[in-house]
Amino acid sequence: MTTADTSGLGELSEGQPLDDRVNNRSQKPSNEAYKAFMATGWAEDDAELPARAEVAPYAAQRRRALSERFPGERLVIPAGPLKVRSNDTDYRFRPHSGFAHLTGLGLDREPDAVLIMEPVEPGTGDDGGNHTAVLYFRPLAGTDSEEFYSNARYGAFWIGSRLGLEQVSALLDLPTRHLDEAETAITSNVGDPQFGGISVRLLRKVDEMVDALVDTVRYNTAMDPENVDLSALDALDGELTEALSELRLIKDAWEVKQMEAAVAATVNGFTEVVKALPRAIAHPRGERVVEGAFFSRAREEGNDLGYDTIAAAGNNATVLHWIRNNGTVNAGELLLLDAGVEADSLYTADITRTVPVNGTYSEVQRKIYQAVLDAADAGFAAAKPGAKFRDVHQAAVKVLAERLADWGLLPVSLEEALSDNGQQHRRWMPHGTSHHLGLDVHDCAQARKELYLDGIITEGMVFTIEPGLYFKNEDLSVPEEYRGIGVRIEDDILITADGPVNLSAALPRNPEDVEAWMAGLAE
Ligand code: GLY
Ligand code: MN
Ligand code: MN
Repeated sequence: MTTADTSGLGELSEGQPLDDRVNNRSQKPSNEAYKAFMATGWAEDDAELPARAEVAPYAAQRRRALSERFPGERLVIPAGPLKVRSNDTDYRFRPHSGFAHLTGLGLDREPDAVLIMEPVEPGTGDDGGNHTAVLYFRPLAGTDSEEFYSNARYGAFWIGSRLGLEQVSALLDLPTRHLDEAETAITSNVGDPQFGGISVRLLRKVDEMVDALVDTVRYNTAMDPENVDLSALDALDGELTEALSELRLIKDAWEVKQMEAAVAATVNGFTEVVKALPRAIAHPRGERVVEGAFFSRAREEGNDLGYDTIAAAGNNATVLHWIRNNGTVNAGELLLLDAGVEADSLYTADITRTVPVNGTYSEVQRKIYQAVLDAADAGFAAAKPGAKFRDVHQAAVKVLAERLADWGLLPVSLEEALSDNGQQHRRWMPHGTSHHLGLDVHDCAQARKELYLDGIITEGMVFTIEPGLYFKNEDLSVPEEYRGIGVRIEDDILITADGPVNLSAALPRNPEDVEAWMAGLAE
């Protein structure tokens, strides 16, 4: 269909579907001669199978542990789809952390994939468990297909080749099938177990298509479709989400190695930032120079950032989630850098250092810094196997409250502030002191409170200790000399049988050590 020209462009096409119009910017030959030429003359894909990945037996153990919790039920764990950043450009793919944990796949693998753990006779499944696992994904189309060269989202011509079904199976020591078979695998025989059906549990809100598929099959197979109990089904899925989160509370030996690698790359990133400080000071958006210096290390040594870098100088350091990072970096101020490299395995570090931009802490900066350091040390001392997770926060915050009382900043007595009905010190330390760390920066977030905040610190846990004090420019309740100073010190702690180990100890923490480190890098 065409419409009368009102623009001087001649007759305009109205019939072209909106989704096709993305192609209007380029000319794509579609004649048969071109297609035939493009479908031939490509070298065979490398058919060699890769060696089994080091992570494979660890991922199998994780699946085995999950299997123990849900005998007789089908478990569906999607990786998630590509996500649009803008128009027809996607973000780099990152699978859901629960999927990465159970498969061992990291980096950009594998969009749209689904791990299905199929229930079998208890004790006869993988490694003597209650399920057999199969990974469903979409291998890239062969070089003889049109998709190979014409699909910019999924064609190897555009996005590079990827391992095929057999190769991924060899790599992970896990059966693989084409994604086309996943729908049947998810939906077959779903129904009330009382009547021979299989109950399905889904890691929800990862892939809308899979959510819709499971919802539909649940409706279609319900005894009474008019009265499907949605909250009961949500609870079923919620328990799987919770189990996947809790499974990650204790890291295995392979995960600890990944965390160590992520921390080592992050330490290099911090060093890069200190070296870039002269350029940052001279730049109208010095915080961006800081952010960029760290990011270059994240991409060179790892997969990406584990979270958006907080590069906060001066008063911006008092803004807890300052990720705009477009401020200046001035001599005489403190720079708070909270940053973490995510390794190719997708495990991330999460470290904060607060450094004096000119290399030397002023007297008041040092006083506040020392209070935060003492709080961190108190948290570290409380982080013993057998103690409660919440004890770490309490130990750290008590030191901060005492210091605030000494400085005359609390409007009530120390005892009152520390009581449940007080908490006035939280004005300057409003966040928690610790969170679990791993595939997600805030790892294990769906674990039950009894296993998280009220949980017992146990060998194999990795968590942060990150107290801070933040005095905003606008805070008229503190003397002027405190205003515009924000300090946080954040380390990544591994719990071993012998006690806590500071994985990020390679970055100096004591003010004198920080100054010496900076001076050494300035030489
Ligand atoms: N960077 C986020 C956090 O420290 O929790
Ligand atoms: Mn943190
Ligand atoms: Mn952090």
